[in-house]
Amino acid sequence: MNDMIYKKRRDQLLEILDDGVAIVISAEQTIRSNDTEYPYRQSSDLYYLSGFEEDNAILLFLKSAKVSKTLLFVQPKDEAMELWTGKRLGIDAAGKRFDVNEVHGIESYAEILKELLKERTHLYLDLFSGDPRYDVAKGHCKSLIDDRSCKKSPRHYIDISEQIRTMRLIKDEHEIALIRSALAITEMAHHDAMRQVRAGMKEYSVQAGFEYIFKHNGAYSDAYTTIVAGGNNANTLHYISNRDTLVEGSLVLIDAGCEYGMYASDITRTFPVSGNFSQSQRELYEMILDVQLRIITEIRPGIVKKHLQECSELWLCEGLVELGIMRGEPKALIEAKSHKKYFPHGIGHWMGIDVHDPSPYVDEKGDELLFQAGMVLTIEPGIYIREDDGEVPERYRGIGIRIEDDILVTEAGCENLSIGIAKTVDEIEVMCVR
Ligand code: GLY
Ligand code: MN
Ligand code: MN
Repeated sequence: MNDMIYKKRRDQLLEILDDGVAIVISAEQTIRSNDTEYPYRQSSDLYYLSGFEEDNAILLFLKSAKVSKTLLFVQPKDEAMELWTGKRLGIDAAGKRFDVNEVHGIESYAEILKELLKERTHLYLDLFSGDPRYDVAKGHCKSLIDDRSCKKSPRHYIDISEQIRTMRLIKDEHEIALIRSALAITEMAHHDAMRQVRAGMKEYSVQAGFEYIFKHNGAYSDAYTTIVAGGNNANTLHYISNRDTLVEGSLVLIDAGCEYGMYASDITRTFPVSGNFSQSQRELYEMILDVQLRIITEIRPGIVKKHLQECSELWLCEGLVELGIMRGEPKALIEAKSHKKYFPHGIGHWMGIDVHDPSPYVDEKGDELLFQAGMVLTIEPGIYIREDDGEVPERYRGIGIRIEDDILVTEAGCENLSIGIAKTVDEIEVMCVR
């Protein structure tokens, strides 16, 4: 594994640090039940800065007027443990793989950290994590304050996650290539579902098809739990029970994307179980698709996400009024927030190592961030009309539709990275031929 891309990111982080020590720690193992763990997944921030997939790892950054250096702490080799949990890289091999100044065994973290903290002014950590490995650092800072022989110690605690996540906003070529790879697998799975779905199938069996294609093609897993929501189930936004039977004449909403090489994809398609849209399904679908396409054409450097949110709310509301689903003047309906009943969520979110990348949407002053080339976000308008909604013409009741693509902001505007996944009524009906 080439460390160059990660070294570049570590150097970039060092650049923005003041005098101090920064700590970035690995994710912990998560217990599934009793002593059985979920498959391990590295913390996204540590991965971004190292590409290292092992548990029990810590990256330290030291910045002072005299020295800037990076230290990596890893699990040492241990044959007995490796028999159970698999090979570890170990200290020597980690020293060869990573272009860091020092590699140590994880057991020496506390001791070395204490030395590094002396005479520094800032401690950079994930301020909102309760991980005990940060408490070690805070404990050291306290004992340095109490130690009269120590003239200076960190009194400023800064949230390192915010800084790393700001860097994560702009994807480099390597990251974009991984998102494209994730999407190539996700595309196969969505197209396969359009071909295979039939009335009478269980939602979980459609989900199983996605998971098979993801894993079979080298994805680590789904990037989030797959939603397969037949008919009215689509009106539950995070429907993941997937236990119902798909019914002739209804739509199925599938929100599914794999994680490949630690990068997410996030795609929703809604298509007819029996292969053809009914008239009312088609009217609603085409309205939402038209809004989605118009929103995508708005994306370019210099705009802000709020603009996309406002346009989508207005245009969806206008569409609902035209279809007779809402009554009134669209701007007044939006003012009264009446449209939220049918479009209750945001138009999209940042995506990258996390499906909902935790990068900021506003700057330190609270102003919306201007879009820049290299940002990746989803665009996912949806309309949800419950089957028991007596205010809506009967023909639209029980329909929930969302259409979601993954968009890269480019210098010239944007690129829809998931353009290959069938989306128009014609494309879908061709894919769904029964
Ligand atoms: N799949 C989660 C989302 O669309 O945000
Ligand atoms: Mn999404
Ligand atoms: Mn989604």
